[in-house]
Amino acid sequence: MRKNLFVLICGFMILSLAGIALAGGGALPEADGKAVYTFITKTEPYQQWSLFPGKDKFYKGKHPHGALLTTYVNEIALAGINNKAGTLANGSIIIKENYMPNKKLGAVTVMYRVDGYDPDAGDWFWAKYKADGSIAKEGKVAGCIGCHTAAINNDWIFTGPVK
Ligand code: HEC
Repeated sequence: MRKNLFVLICGFMILSLAGIALAGGGALPEADGKAVYTFITKTEPYQQWSLFPGKDKFYKGKHPHGALLTTYVNEIALAGINNKAGTLANGSIIIKENYMPNKKLGAVTVMYRVDGYDPDAGDWFWAKYKADGSIAKEGKVAGCIGCHTAAINNDWIFTGPVK
């Protein structure tokens, strides 16, 4: 009888912990510059994420991003890249920091895949933040999309192969 009660209580505790984990990790932001910034700096601080596979910190960038770049991926994006999924799953987030040659942060750019957000352009939500976190560009940004279209066969991603 005692043993049953013990098992019951343990079961309850495990279930509640699982519930908390799900609630914490499952709440992705809406496709909105402010909501995304809060998510990537407060909810799931992106500097604790994995680096884009195959890239170290401060690798050399090309125009128009920074002289030096550091690119992070959340777990959903990481799984897709590692599994060579071809198309990253909804909820994938890629964050690239643009640095000046002296390693001063210039801007932070984001690609975030949101189900049904922009079917003509891979459902990516685009955002660019200044170093102080203010929004420089957000949404279906024509400039971002126009150039990244060159990488359409790699899910609009330049940094490394996803298939
Ligand atoms: C003129 C072309 C061009 C424009 C415009 C451009 N990008 Fe990029 N982007 C690149 C290239 C090239 C890379 C690969 C990084 C590198 O080596 O410089 C890249 C990389 C990225 C990455 C890392 C993931 C990936 O796709 O490789 C993000 C995130 C990103 N860009 C976001 C943006 C956002 C947001 C905008 C608009 C505000 C934008 N980009 C505009 C060319 C462009």
